[in-house]
Amino acid sequence: MSYYIGADLGTSSLKLMLVDKAGKILKSATREYEVTYPKIGWSEQNPYDWWDAFVSGVRELTAEFDGGKVQGIGVGGQMHGLVALDKSDKVIRPAILWNDGRTEKEVDYLNNVIGQKALSEMTANVAFAGFTAPKLLWMRENEPENFAKITKIMLPKDYINYLLTGNHATDLSDASGMLTLDVKNRCWSEKMLEICGIERSWCAKLYESYEVIGKVKADVAQLLGISKNAVVVAGAGDNAAAAIGTATVGEGKCNISLGTSGTVFISSESFSCDSNNALHSFCHSDGGYHLMGCILSAASCNKWFCEKILGTSDFRGESDNIDESKLGGNNVFFLPYLMGERSPINDTNATGVFLGLNPETSRADMLLAVFEGVAFAIRDNIEVAKSLGIKLSRSTVCGGGAKSKLWLKILANVLAIELDVPTSEEGPGYGGAILAMTACGEFASVKDGASKLVKIKETVRPEEKLTKLYEERYQKYKKIYPALKALYKEIKE
Ligand code: XUL
Repeated sequence: MSYYIGADLGTSSLKLMLVDKAGKILKSATREYEVTYPKIGWSEQNPYDWWDAFVSGVRELTAEFDGGKVQGIGVGGQMHGLVALDKSDKVIRPAILWNDGRTEKEVDYLNNVIGQKALSEMTANVAFAGFTAPKLLWMRENEPENFAKITKIMLPKDYINYLLTGNHATDLSDASGMLTLDVKNRCWSEKMLEICGIERSWCAKLYESYEVIGKVKADVAQLLGISKNAVVVAGAGDNAAAAIGTATVGEGKCNISLGTSGTVFISSESFSCDSNNALHSFCHSDGGYHLMGCILSAASCNKWFCEKILGTSDFRGESDNIDESKLGGNNVFFLPYLMGERSPINDTNATGVFLGLNPETSRADMLLAVFEGVAFAIRDNIEVAKSLGIKLSRSTVCGGGAKSKLWLKILANVLAIELDVPTSEEGPGYGGAILAMTACGEFASVKDGASKLVKIKETVRPEEKLTKLYEERYQKYKKIYPALKALYKEIKE
């Protein structure tokens, strides 16, 4: 029997799974690590923490199961983060993460001096604060001594793959979020590298997600307790990996992820680009392409509200206090912009807001507003997709937030679409395992593997009455951000 390891290098934790060749999850392991917020709107992590988590997590898997049977590893990882190494392969500074908003000036330069049209022609995207290229411009300007030390740049999961194999590689889905990839032609954009002062030699070799980048180094295989013949695939950005893990492959399928971020991922066999660039146009890990909208705070809003404000980690207990008859009739609104917002508004000044509080407002009303606010922000992205002529009547869902039946009911009614819940909500890890299995010949293609292995356990259907109520609520919600946009800027200054 062959085994495979799928990993999801997330923002709050690393989730690992050991899968057999029939796709059965034999064991899972989770390791949490810190995010630091050195200034408001900044977010960083220590890449060595990821590696420690990876080593100890894999050792937990192999303590119980025969690691000698591990044939392949596939990692899906948080996108856009900048990991920079010096000439001795030391990490130069903490990684700057996907939800870090420090690059307002650099984004402004790229979008307004280089110009959105030129950027879109070169990369199929425009600049957003979390993307990697603006971070490099920021480092060049603000930390020239660090910038001068760079010999390699890589994305978070590529750092794990580098330590595993010694090969400096990345995959096209993750590379798409750097703003240095010519997405349409699946190669680096030499012009963008030049604009950002990035040397070609710093860039990783590009692979399709399901291609092998190398074997696990012998000493590392021994440390992890796995076969020294195990191979590592290029892997994928977490959303593209989640798409494989939810069978969002081929033409016109949709997956919604409710993780730290919230994403709407629409797969496509051919390249296309949102003419307003509100949705990202990226390569998919099945060899095709996808459009994606990303809200920076989704399940993290629930975590923040319960842990920081209510002082509890009993998420289930808190949500059980919500009276379901209040759905669609809550007087409280919540804007989920705890880390600014990416899609579709692209505004680093935006912050979280509760609106509509009165003396009768309860903690349950406010938590309901949090669930609804995230659902409305996801809907903003679905609206952009609809405006591009994309028809969506159903979507899969994954991520920690998808464990909440109540949240899924709200989401299905706010979006007025059916939501399919796969047997494993751990999309990226399962997708990583399928990528590794495909590379090792278990399947003819990623699409074949995903269609064979991913099973739907439940479908959440919208209800006519609730959909109507939520339609009215959404029309009101939509007016809040435009009313605050200028004020957000003013109070930040
Ligand atoms: C996608 C994005 C987030 C991170 C979260 O563009 O920034 O979904 O990948 O891990």
